[in-house]
Amino acid sequence: MTHLRSTADAYDAVATLYAGMARDDLTSLPLDRAAFAEAARSAPGPVAELGCGPGPVTAHLRDLGLDVFGVDLSQSMIDLARAAYPDLRFAVGSMDALDLADGTLGGIVSWYSVIHAPPEDVPAYFAEFRRVLAAGGHLLVAFFESADGRVAAFDHKVTTAYRWPIDELAGLAGDAGFTEVGRVLREPLADERPLRRGHLLMRA
Ligand SMILES: C[S@@+](CC[C@H](N)C(=O)[O-])C[C@H]1O[C@@H](n2cnc3c(N)ncnc32)[C@H](O)[C@@H]1O
Repeated sequence: MTHLRSTADAYDAVATLYAGMARDDLTSLPLDRAAFAEAARSAPGPVAELGCGPGPVTAHLRDLGLDVFGVDLSQSMIDLARAAYPDLRFAVGSMDALDLADGTLGGIVSWYSVIHAPPEDVPAYFAEFRRVLAAGGHLLVAFFESADGRVAAFDHKVTTAYRWPIDELAGLAGDAGFTEVGRVLREPLADERPLRRGHLLMRA
C-alpha cells in the first residue's frame, strides 16, 4: 500500500494551497451539476464523498439536501475540511477499506479521487463501493477520459494519476455489480488540462 502513503503525503504537502484554489465549479458547469442532482434525487440514505479533499463538493451535496459526510486519505485535507465546514462530518480513511458495515450507504460520490488508484487496484475499489452501498444506491464517479483506448498515467500536479477509457471504467464497475444509469463526457474549459472529463452514474 505504498501508493496510499505517497498519495496521502503528496496531498498533505499541498493541502493549504489546494484548498485555496479549490473552486465550486459545480455552479458554472451545468452537466456536472445535473449529474449531482440525479445522484441526490435517487439516494435513499447517507451519501459519502470518498476522496473529499478540502470538502467543497461535500458541502455542495449538503446544499442539495443530502445527509452527507466526507472521507479522505490526507489528514491535512480533513483538517481543512473540518475547519471550513464545521457542520459536516469528515473522517480520515481509504476508500478501498471503509470503516462501514455492508449496505449502509445510499450513495457514493468519487469526484476525481479514483484517478489516483493504480489501475490494477480499481476493481477492488469498486467492490468496496458495492459492499457498502445499499441495493438501489448510486455511485457517481468523475475522472479524466483516455480517448485513445488505453489506461495511461498523465501529468497530474500533485501525484500519479490515470486517465481511463470510459467504456473500460464502466465495465469494471459493472463487473463489481453496478448497472450503468448514464454517462457524461464533457469538453475541457479553457483553463483546464486538455482532457475530456468523464462522469459515470451507476446503480447498485
Ligand atoms: C483531485 S483531489 C479531489 C478532491 C475533491 N473530491 C474535489 O473534487 O475537490 C483527490 C483526493 O482524493 C484523495 N484520495 C486519493 N486516494 C484516496 C483513497 N484511496 N482514499 C481516500 N481518499 C483518497 C486525495 O487525498 C485527494 O484529497
